[in-house]
Amino acid sequence: MDKKQLIYEGKGKKLYKTSDENLLIAEFKDDLTAFNAQKKSSEVGKGSLNCQISSLIFKLLNQNGIDNHFVKQLDENNMLCRVVKIIPLEVVVRNVATGSLTKRLGIKDGTKLPFSLVEFYYKDDALGDPIINDEHCKIMGILDNDDDIKYIKDVARKVNTILIDFFDTKNVRLIDFKIEFGIDSNNKIILADEISPDSCRLWDKESNKKMDKDIFRENLGSVVDAYQEILNRIK
Ligand code: TMP
Ligand code: ASP
Repeated sequence: MDKKQLIYEGKGKKLYKTSDENLLIAEFKDDLTAFNAQKKSSEVGKGSLNCQISSLIFKLLNQNGIDNHFVKQLDENNMLCRVVKIIPLEVVVRNVATGSLTKRLGIKDGTKLPFSLVEFYYKDDALGDPIINDEHCKIMGILDNDDDIKYIKDVARKVNTILIDFFDTKNVRLIDFKIEFGIDSNNKIILADEISPDSCRLWDKESNKKMDKDIFRENLGSVVDAYQEILNRIK
């Protein structure tokens, strides 16, 4: 399957048309951004690691009944995906308090939450991706009914359960993650985008060492070394 016209370039990926109007190619970039792209860098090999990790995770989720856009990995940096219309919502699931939750509510960093928290953020760079609730979703027309909101939260919780267990067997703690959904050609909501150390927080089970994009956010060293370690553990 060959790349045709570039249709979209985001912070982490470029999307290309293919000869099949229902399929696109996602090319994972080496660029690193944080804090709404106020901090920028790049590390050779980051895109390839995220493509490989994301492909393994989407396959695992498919095997566990979570419908998603992944079709197959084409090569180190390129993934073949079903075309979807992305819903402008960042769905965050948290098991442990850290990051913006800690800053917003003052919960001590590293506190295990009594239950997994699902949050919605409105995906809009100009507004800085503000946190929103179910009612904002409906008022903004991001999701227009309670069934779709419930469906997305249920899928997010299922993904969390599957990934907690999976990473646990690899001696990794799934602290939190962000997922995105899209609407496919049958008008069905499916999981899309990527699931990688750019979009998850992953801590080593023994040492709590960070193995995700916080390494870049907090200037803790090379993300490629940590992402390679994640890939080695999960493949
Ligand atoms: P946060 O604590 O900064 O809100 O991040 C929660 C989770 O979402 C964490 O796993 C990192 C991920 N995330 C993204 O994938 N993209 C983003 O733009 C942000 C802010 C967070
Ligand atoms: N994804 C956002 C950015 O690229 C923020 C983050 O991940 O910290 O700026």
